[in-house]
Amino acid sequence: MEIIREPERMQALALRLRREGKRVGLVPTMGALHAGHLSLLEHVRRDCDVIVVSIFVNPIQFGPGEDLERYPRDLEGDAEKLREVGCHVVFAPDVGSVYRPGARTRVIVEELEDVLCGASRPGHFRGVATIVTKLFHLVQPHVAVFGQKDAQQAILLQRMTRDLDFPVELRIAPIVRDPDGLALSSRNAYLDAQQRSEALLLQESLRSAYRLVDAGERDAEILRRHVREHLSSGKQLRIDYVDLVDAQTLRPLRRLDGRALLLLAAWVGKTRLIDNLALEVRHNEVREVALEHIPGEETR
Ligand code: PAJ
Repeated sequence: MEIIREPERMQALALRLRREGKRVGLVPTMGALHAGHLSLLEHVRRDCDVIVVSIFVNPIQFGPGEDLERYPRDLEGDAEKLREVGCHVVFAPDVGSVYRPGARTRVIVEELEDVLCGASRPGHFRGVATIVTKLFHLVQPHVAVFGQKDAQQAILLQRMTRDLDFPVELRIAPIVRDPDGLALSSRNAYLDAQQRSEALLLQESLRSAYRLVDAGERDAEILRRHVREHLSSGKQLRIDYVDLVDAQTLRPLRRLDGRALLLLAAWVGKTRLIDNLALEVRHNEVREVALEHIPGEETR
């Protein structure tokens, strides 16, 4: 496994691999890797010759007062884990080599960037779209994989990839959870025992809403309220948003009919956590679906 620190070297290697006809799969991360991150590699392994994992804590996607400084960093530990799961290249550049003095360009995905997580984290998604654009240019991947854990991010990047004609196939991998249901996140490390047990309310409230849909409820407002009420039992939990939206446009739904995405964000203590559930209602039957299988081509 090779560790590359310089963007120029990464791009030179990527161009050489392309010339040699190799298929490249990219897994972008900010490091502090857990089983959720590592699962993403399995989604490019079967049809890629070279797996590149990028590790870069991207400063421009953090707002003032967010956790940029204390975000966990462990390049050595991450490299060890990646070696074990058969990664070929780790791309771990410095901030100064990625954002050179004078850089002024940002990538904006209109409408999708201002809602949900974007409403409480202004500038976050243009930071994400900008770094992913740069990674696409530096790594030249044929396939890139993102987690459904960050559903809005995956949907926005799907839109960006189509809108800017990147020759990249974007895949969305399912959420990896702890056995008790908590979605794995690098930020779970900030939680104490009491907070961790309150964090379980996120997943439980989504499951509870699912049962309500299964029992026949189709009114989106009632479902949102139900999730909010469920979450309100957490003493250290403060809701950021709960919404039921169309999975391509992220616009709020009034009724559940077809495919939909139920998502939420909440602070538990000082830690902001997110979770979501993609569902499909058809012929009065409800089932959980993978975001990957919610087609977006018709909005091309
Ligand atoms: P990061 O939070 O490190 O996540 C990297 C990738 O891992 C994302 O695609 C995320 O959705 C996925 N992921 C995280 N937890 C997961 C889980 N429990 N199950 C499945 N996938 C999971 O997301 C980012 O970094 C950054 O915004 C990035 C895209 C790298 C741009 O800076």
